[in-house]
Amino acid sequence: MSIPVPTYRPRRLRKNATIRNLVKETYLSVDDLIYPLFIIEGTGIREEISSMPGVFRVSPDKLSAEIDELKELGINSVILFGIPAVKDSVGSAGYDDDGIVQQAIRVIKAHTPDLYVITDVCLCEYTDHGHCGIVLADGTVDNDSTLELLAREAVSHAKAGADMVAPSDMMDGRVAAIRYALDEAGFQTIPIMAYSAKYSSAYYGPFRDAADSAPSFGDRKTYQMDIANSEEALREVATDIDEGADIVMVKPGLAYLDVVRRVKDNFSYPVCVYNVSGEYSMVKAAALAGWVDEERLMMETMIAFKRAGADMIITYPAKDVARWI
Ligand code: PBG
Ligand code: ZN
Repeated sequence: MSIPVPTYRPRRLRKNATIRNLVKETYLSVDDLIYPLFIIEGTGIREEISSMPGVFRVSPDKLSAEIDELKELGINSVILFGIPAVKDSVGSAGYDDDGIVQQAIRVIKAHTPDLYVITDVCLCEYTDHGHCGIVLADGTVDNDSTLELLAREAVSHAKAGADMVAPSDMMDGRVAAIRYALDEAGFQTIPIMAYSAKYSSAYYGPFRDAADSAPSFGDRKTYQMDIANSEEALREVATDIDEGADIVMVKPGLAYLDVVRRVKDNFSYPVCVYNVSGEYSMVKAAALAGWVDEERLMMETMIAFKRAGADMIITYPAKDVARWI
């Protein structure tokens, strides 16, 4: 018996790093990274989030040191999340011109005007019930009355100096409502990054610890997407683009790479992927136990996002990734 000799030998192009680099298809740059920042009301606060080692809640007075570190690492964009001192049923702190995110934007812009500031636009960080919209007497989340508040929040962020707003609430019609309100207020040049395919996911657990925003009753399944669907993701993205979204997002990331690819292939729009809190905590926990190689695992994850078609990545390990690139 003679074993046939292979004609195509992929290993020819894997012989050493030089040839591997010549045929490499996917690259990651620090320009692709967006760093999430949790801003907490108060002074002198920089506290680690217990379920997210290495991620901190910081008060506005502690922000400049944080920003300096990011700039030194070459990270030029952040997305802000607010943790207000007081929450109420309608999330007033979210659209208060002196709210925590609005304060943070002003601090950042005074310190480092060229840092690109994106803001998360949602009510769940500011409502006492933890839902992303107005809750009616029967416990349902009301779509249309929420739109007005989201629009006010987005305009308030823009007035404070935000460069881009990112609605994460998943109400129907919110991109149109926000676009209309921004334009009316003279912010025609402020883009909208829509959390378009945002799933109702267990991967958000650590974030909800961080922002103290877990719903006090029920879940988010009446507004966030069913994890089983990807055709629906395309309809969500199409609708958001139609309503004026400039960038569309898929969230979470790793378990939804198929959705990232479908969105990239179906729309000629920039795609952001959100590498969410639970994805971070899983890697961190395993790394702290010594079970995985943290650097290799994190970098493999980043490349996977780019390979799937993401143009940009919101990610908690952004600072480490910037060092490792
Ligand atoms: C607010 C919001 C959430 C996240 C981003 N914006 C929480 C949620 O929808 O429950 C999750 C981010 C993460 O888990 O890292 N709606
Ligand atoms: Zn929310």
